[in-house]
Amino acid sequence: QERYDLTGSLLRWYDYNKRILPWRENKDPYRIWVSEIMLQQTRVEAVKPYFDRFMEAFPEVQDLAEADDERLMKMWEGLGYYNRARNLKAAARKIVNEYDGKIPGDYDALLSLNGIGTYTAGAIGSIAFDLQVPAVDGNVMRVLSRLWGDDSDILKEKTKREMGKRIQAYIPKDRPGDFNQALIELGAIVCIPNGKPLCDRCPWDTVCRAYREDRIDQLPVKKPK
Ligand code: ADE
Repeated sequence: QERYDLTGSLLRWYDYNKRILPWRENKDPYRIWVSEIMLQQTRVEAVKPYFDRFMEAFPEVQDLAEADDERLMKMWEGLGYYNRARNLKAAARKIVNEYDGKIPGDYDALLSLNGIGTYTAGAIGSIAFDLQVPAVDGNVMRVLSRLWGDDSDILKEKTKREMGKRIQAYIPKDRPGDFNQALIELGAIVCIPNGKPLCDRCPWDTVCRAYREDRIDQLPVKKPK
């Protein structure tokens, strides 16, 4: 019996439907890193102009490490969550001092940098360095809880860990970054929140448990703390 090709169908969908975004032009780890930090709490459309300006102001990690604090904060004005900018500079200084100015391509080294948690380490590791590591955030958990009909509470750290482990088996060796970005993309433009996902455009519609069992509006589960 042939198992459904979740990976292949997702990647084919992504190749055809992915948005053209400034941080998808190449795999420069510095650009991937800055974009992932900006995208942590800010929407794609809002990030775009900030990302372009930031890259002009601080084209390389060395420029960021030496950035004037006032100029840095001015560049960040409007994005909010200013700790992200402070963490970026602190991490840039660490990269210059401890990693010879090169962003480390190792998952645990990435995790040790200011402002980088498991999701962001997974995103940078897979997109910029082709590591077969998951990048599971709230949006990806929404997709996966629907796919698997999983009613675990997605506000729990344990659920994120378990979903990461389970999805890791599907990450292809040759395109881990595209796979993770495809999951993010599916959550952003098809498997959207509020009970009205666009299931007729989903590459997984034939295998999605929530769709097949008419439980889309019940998943994901988020228990208020
Ligand atoms: N949100 C977080 N990471 C992203 C990425 N690489 N592309 C689009 N949206 C994202």
